[in-house]
Amino acid sequence: MQNLTKETAIKLLEVNMKNQNLRRHCYAVGKALSAYFDYYKSQNLDTGKLSKEQWEIIGILHDADWEITTNNPEQHTLMLMGWLKDYDTPEEMMNVFRSHNTKITELREPETLLEWTLECCDELTGFIVAVALVMPERKLDVVTTERVLKKFRQKEFARQVDREQIQQCESKVGIDVNTFIEITLKAMQENSELLGL
Ligand SMILES: [Fe+2]
Ligand SMILES: [Fe+2]
Repeated sequence: MQNLTKETAIKLLEVNMKNQNLRRHCYAVGKALSAYFDYYKSQNLDTGKLSKEQWEIIGILHDADWEITTNNPEQHTLMLMGWLKDYDTPEEMMNVFRSHNTKITELREPETLLEWTLECCDELTGFIVAVALVMPERKLDVVTTERVLKKFRQKEFARQVDREQIQQCESKVGIDVNTFIEITLKAMQENSELLGL
């Protein structure tokens, strides 16, 4: 049984995912989740049993098996949860992974604040990268919330991104889209080196 720390989580990710851009997506979600942890604490909301580091670990690992399961999407998260049996993974964390990819696995509907936050910010981090990449500077630094919102409303831009999934932040975690973008964008900008943008 191994300890599940940020360090061992990154190792597990890197062993199983070779594509640097896919890894960066995982890091971005990790940074976003740790920013949400702080935000919820500042609002005196119940963040549950897991620590801020564990929220970040969830982001780092949520797609760790995605490269390997590309051709078997029904295995996405199941494989990850198999690996995590060798680690001291808390049940609350396993539940988050059960709720991810649940449209296919049907393991668990997102329920907690953490589970819904992952559901909503997962697509948004990718969308923000897409917005940065169409700007001349190709840097997160020059992206603004207004810019992301404008692109968000343009249906033809990055049309594969499910706007509704992101928009659920309003009803499921009680944050308006504007603020939700702001928090995610800031978390990504503060880690632009890690994200290579
Ligand atoms: Fe995923
Ligand atoms: Fe993801």
